[in-house]
Amino acid sequence: MPDPQHVLAARVQAALAAAFGPSYADADPVIRPSQFADLQANVALPLAKKLGRKPRDVADEIVAHLDVANLVSDVQVSGPGFINLTLSDAWIAAEAQRTLEDERLAVPAVEKPQKIVVEYSSPNVAKEMHVGHLRTTIVGDAIARILAFLGHEVVRDNHVGDWGTPFGMLIEHLLDIGEDAAARGDSSVSDLTAFYRAARSKFDGDPEFADRARRRVVALQAGDPETLRLWQVLVDVSKRYFNSVYERLGVTLTDDDIKGESFYNDLLAPTVQELVDKGIAVVSDGALCAFPPGFTGREGDPLPVIIRKSDGGYNYSTTDLATIRYRVDTEHVDRMVYVVGAPQSLHFEMVFAVARMAGWLGDGVRAEHAKIGNVLGTDGKILKTRAGDTPRLAGLVDDAVERAGAAFDEMQHDEEFDKATRAAIVEAVGVGAIKYADLSVALDSEYVFDLDRMTSFHGKTGPYLQYATVRIRSIFRRGGIDPGTATGPIAIGHEAERALALKLLDFGAVVAQAGETCEPHRLAGYLFELAQAFTAFFENCPVLKAPDEETRASRLALSAATLRTLVTGLDLLGVPIPERM
Ligand code: ARG
Repeated sequence: MPDPQHVLAARVQAALAAAFGPSYADADPVIRPSQFADLQANVALPLAKKLGRKPRDVADEIVAHLDVANLVSDVQVSGPGFINLTLSDAWIAAEAQRTLEDERLAVPAVEKPQKIVVEYSSPNVAKEMHVGHLRTTIVGDAIARILAFLGHEVVRDNHVGDWGTPFGMLIEHLLDIGEDAAARGDSSVSDLTAFYRAARSKFDGDPEFADRARRRVVALQAGDPETLRLWQVLVDVSKRYFNSVYERLGVTLTDDDIKGESFYNDLLAPTVQELVDKGIAVVSDGALCAFPPGFTGREGDPLPVIIRKSDGGYNYSTTDLATIRYRVDTEHVDRMVYVVGAPQSLHFEMVFAVARMAGWLGDGVRAEHAKIGNVLGTDGKILKTRAGDTPRLAGLVDDAVERAGAAFDEMQHDEEFDKATRAAIVEAVGVGAIKYADLSVALDSEYVFDLDRMTSFHGKTGPYLQYATVRIRSIFRRGGIDPGTATGPIAIGHEAERALALKLLDFGAVVAQAGETCEPHRLAGYLFELAQAFTAFFENCPVLKAPDEETRASRLALSAATLRTLVTGLDLLGVPIPERM
């Protein structure tokens, strides 16, 4: 990795080996940010303990063996034994130049590409998507984009909830109101919340209907063709709805990525059989259960994963086990990332544990739950509408676009926009605001869905970052220059140029780490810091009116590198970028 932290780490390790012997070549040099220099190496303190020497002496000895050539311009030992390292301006400039010239902005492709399933969105058929699905969809899409950019083979997987007992009542309700209503796109069907509620209330209040619904479930599970056809009608209505959401949000999922729960239906029985054959599933209280070690209830009693209910039916866990088995045996994946709400974490821990017992996980196949935290209202409670319902996703996006419009109209603009252009910009700002807000906090943290804050053009927001790219583009437009022709050379003359160039060098390491840990918020945070560094640069260093030709060329090149990094990074997050605003 060519970023300062890794390059310095390698130099300090070489010094450790030279000073204390080759066995220290792999020691962690403990590189940290420093107040007094670019970075600090803190290895002298733990090492001194180990060697039984004074930390300051150890630090001095490391410094004596440190090869600073072409990299470090100043080394200071401070405090008990911190080694403060200042990078040379020439090195920073040369690396920034290399980044600018590199098609991938010096983001290295992984050495060993893996086949990675990223499972995300996974809404339920015949139900409206809610704000929880919004976040898993947005975060999952960013993870998929980042992993693909790093060179992995990414399999996007939308594990739609399209099977199970509710379909009995849903199909009967569809028959009651008439199938042609679905074909017409009638709102009695396309308003999924109302459709589901109507079916539910009939099921609860009308014994004859409930009876029909139960028989319908049996027919569905038996594969009755007419029942499957009706089921497909419902699935198709929902898919149209999901796709409209994905399109509006710029999410990369397509119909080809859908592998719903129904896909695994035929694999449930063989999966259960394998667990029985391996002695993992045993009968307990009439149900077939697995008891993964280490999971106990309050009384210390072992907790079961129910694999087949006492009535013979399979459940959510059975499907997830069949899914893992299929991905390992048939798809041969190396890694699976489940981008699903945090409340399901015990479910996944236990399912993974059973899969390990069966030998499907382990030995080079990794499964992880990227736990998505709850979205809260401004009152700090789970987001609800005034009527106490879970808010509809489309309504939230509409609200964000409306606020974005108000914030946009308050701003000073260099040009007039016609109605259609304004609408397109404001849509991108509203969607970008929601997406960036979802991505900018650690994915397992809860966050407050505060539209005023999210749509603000100030602070750590999507609109601020979008505006940063627009501002850079406008420099080039005013100068009549194509950013692609701003090739430098980059030179460092001003403190703000140095800080900006240094920031640019971190992009590759940040993207790599965001992919490795499935934490897009690291990239979101980095882009904000980069935009801030650009703002400071722009306020201190005139670009088009630079004092001389060389400085102008360098500053244009720094601006071009920043623009490309922001655009690439925002694209990896899936945040749309208007060209003007
Ligand atoms: N459909 C589920 C829900 O809306 C999420 C599915 C998560 N994925 C899984 N493999 N269980 O809550």
